[in-house]
This record gives sequence, structure tokens and C-alpha cells, in this order.
Amino acid sequence: MYYAGIDLGTSSVKLLLMDEKGNIQKIVSREYPLSFPHPGWSEQNPYDWFNESMAGLKELLSEIDKDALAGISFGGQMHGLVILDEEDKVIRPAILWNDGRTTEECEYLNNDIGRDRLSGYTANIAFAGFTAPKLIWVKKNEPDNFRRIKKIMLPKDYLAYRLTGVHATDVSDASGMLLLDVKNRKWSDEMCDICSISTSLLPKLFESYEAIGTLLPEIAAELGVRKDVIVAAGAGDNAAAAVATGTVGDGNCNISLGTSGTIFISQKHFSVDSHNALHSFCDANGEYHLMGCMLSAASCNKWWMDEIVKTTDYAAEQKNIEKLGENPVFFLPYLMGERSPLNDPQARAAFIGMSMDSTREDMTQAVLEGVAFALRDSFEIAKSLGLSIGRSKVVGGGAKSPLWRRIIANVLGVPLDILKTEEGPSLGGAMLAAVACKEYDSVEDAAKAIVEVVDTVEPEAELVQKYDAQYKKFRLLYPALKDAFPKLA
Ligand code: XUL
Repeated sequence: MYYAGIDLGTSSVKLLLMDEKGNIQKIVSREYPLSFPHPGWSEQNPYDWFNESMAGLKELLSEIDKDALAGISFGGQMHGLVILDEEDKVIRPAILWNDGRTTEECEYLNNDIGRDRLSGYTANIAFAGFTAPKLIWVKKNEPDNFRRIKKIMLPKDYLAYRLTGVHATDVSDASGMLLLDVKNRKWSDEMCDICSISTSLLPKLFESYEAIGTLLPEIAAELGVRKDVIVAAGAGDNAAAAVATGTVGDGNCNISLGTSGTIFISQKHFSVDSHNALHSFCDANGEYHLMGCMLSAASCNKWWMDEIVKTTDYAAEQKNIEKLGENPVFFLPYLMGERSPLNDPQARAAFIGMSMDSTREDMTQAVLEGVAFALRDSFEIAKSLGLSIGRSKVVGGGAKSPLWRRIIANVLGVPLDILKTEEGPSLGGAMLAAVACKEYDSVEDAAKAIVEVVDTVEPEAELVQKYDAQYKKFRLLYPALKDAFPKLA
């Protein structure tokens, strides 16, 4: 049997085909545009997601026995607001997870409604990328669009809806809407009131590994697959990546180095960070997790390489970087503002510390190190909650770079386990489909059978010390610049 996992990402959709033993058969990826209509805004067209995913599925399935496809599921970019009218047509472009337009709405939620009440209702506070502040923004700025809303959903759920005709979401992704009572895994009536919406506008809630339905007959016919192919709810991309890396159970950690960068800590039981700096979300295995999310991680290096250095050979740019732990150049990675733990949509990126002898390599190194330091900000918060994180897995495009892995292992001071594949959400999606099809009894069983650690990057005592000192310097920079950022726009 085959299972397809669809990672509906920010720059592209990645589709992965896995057999019942978890062997990856094929990976296909297709890009779509991302638009920034104003500084700090970030939007995408849901029709692009559907069209590219269908084209990708056709390519993915082109050389296999199509009758052997048993299930499909997802890992999706989180928090994006997709709104549909009474004919299920998309009302406006989706407002994405890294969109920073809702500063005022977040202030209203966190200050007027109050952080304690929000945290009591949802286990979280408002961050600019979350879905509820965007709804309030639409109500205020686009009242005609707001009145037309008949369904509210997240990016991967729009895709699932187009494949099955079912309006569904899963609890891990729904956790990032600020509309879910995370502890009890149900919609929060209070939050719906605050956002002036009825719960009937929200999709039906499922666990990530549950089937939401089967393919629509016309979709099955277009793909040439059986009509009873099961579609499982899937998960937010970080929870799906956690499945793919076996980050389940209590106190296990995964770092995802994608467009965003996340520190994900699985929890058997519900808990909340008393300062709400880390998100407290439902997990894809029926349990919970804590997560810190930085908005620009591998995307900082991509921006630096593609737009500034103008090269596609990232490895060549990193080849001569040898002097770790003593770079006088620092980079603040806040290209899209920052979420965890700063919660500051107006923060911006900065290079600082250059002198006449600074080199291009120093700057490239500073970018990789800046991302690692910003990840450590969330890591430190997790440690301050008493969580002991002895090691971590790492996945995502950035995890392909041995230099970056070494920097992160030493900045965090923990061993990093490298997996057979750095595929996160797409593999996790395929595994969730396999669980929904009863190929495995549980997410844990699927992870035990499929996840394989092939290498470990150990921290080096001397370098850990040097990076500790460097991190202390990095920590001086944001507070020094914080008040200037809003004035730069
Ligand atoms: C998580 C988050 C990002 C996106 C990226 O809270 O916003 O990781 O899910 O796709």
C-alpha cells in the first residue's frame, strides 16, 4: 500500500509517497507565489495551493500502481486565515502565519481582553500571525468581506476540503487559531464571541490521525485512484514534522529549520508556559506540545544567498567558514518581525559589528549563527520552565547544512540527532494517513517502525563555552534596537 503526505508550505507544496513500511518512494515539489502587498504583510492564493497540489499529486502517482494508494494526509503551514463565502468560494487571499498586520488587534486582545483571560480560554495569548487577530482585522478593515464569511479554515484544511468536500480541521493546527480551547480540544465559545463569529463558521474538529472522509469521486477520477482513498485530517507542519521525527511522548525535542524555525517539545500532559512565550498546543498523537517559533530561519540564509550574495551554491559559501564561536559580526534574524519569544512584528533584521576587515564569510556565518541564537531564546525559555532537554532531532531544508547543524548543536549545547531523511511535514503527513488507514495502531507505533536516527552531532565543550559568550552579546542587541525599529518603517 502507498500513503501520500502533502506538506503545504509557504514557498512550495512538497508531496511525498511512502510505502507501508515507511520507505520513501518519491518526492515532488511545486512552487507558488507569495505576495507581500505591504511591508510586513504576507498573502497567498488558496487556488494556487489546490492547483499545484493536484499537479503534484499527478506527478507523484505517475509511475505507481494507482490502486495501491490507500491514504492521503497533510502537514500544513499553520495559522493562515482562509475565508469562504456561501458558495465555498475564497473571499480574499489567505493571510499567512508570517503576516504582521495585526499589531493593533493583538494589543486589543492581549491588553483589553487581557492575557490571563486569553490564556484561560485557549492556553495561549495573541501573536500577530495567529488566526483570531486576523479575523478581527478583516472585520475592522474589510467589513464587506467579513459579512460574507460562511467558513473559516486553515491552509491545509482548504486543500482537504477541495479533495473531500468536508469542512474539517485537526486539533494541532486549530490550536494556532487562538479559537481553540487547547486543554479540552474543543472550540472556545468565549473566543468566538470576542471575534464576533459563530462556532458554526468553524470546521469540524478531528484528531490528526483520524479520517475525515474519502476523495470526491471527480477528484479520484482525475487522479486515476480508487474512490475509497482515505483522507486523514493531518496536522500543522510542526506537529507533522514531530511525527516524522518520532518526537512524541514526554519531553522530546525537535528543531525545524524551514522558512520558520521552531523548537518543539512533546508533552504527555497539558501544560502552559506561565508567560505564554511558548505556544501550548495539541499534538498530532492525541497529546500536547510546547513550541517556540521564530518567523525567519532558513529563509534568512535563503534571502542572504539568493537576494544579496546572488548564488545558488549555498555549500560553496559555507565551505571556508572555519573560525566558529568568535565572529565579531552578528545578525538579528527578524526579516519578518519576530514571534517567539519577542512577540514583536515591528522588529527587523540587522547586521552589526562589521569592521574594515569583515568578510563575506563572516556575514554568511553571522546569518547562520543569528538564527541559532534566536532559536536558543526559545530553548532558554523551555529550560526556565524546568524542562530538561537532553538532545534534539533536527529537520527541514536548513538541516542539510553540516555547518549549520554544528553551529546549532554548540549554541544550544545539546547533541543533535540526524535522521535518515530531513523530510518533516510531508513524511509526517504520510504517516498520519497510514495510521488513519490502520496500517499502524497509533502515531507512536508508526514512529517506532519508521523513524531512523543515522548520525549525531555532538556539542564540543570548548565551542559551547565560546558560543555561550557570543550568545550573551547577541542578547544585548535586540533591547538596544527595539525602540528604533518602529521608527524605521
Ligand atoms: C508555527 C508557524 C510556522 C508555520 C510555517 O507556529 O507559524 O512554523 O507553520 O509553516
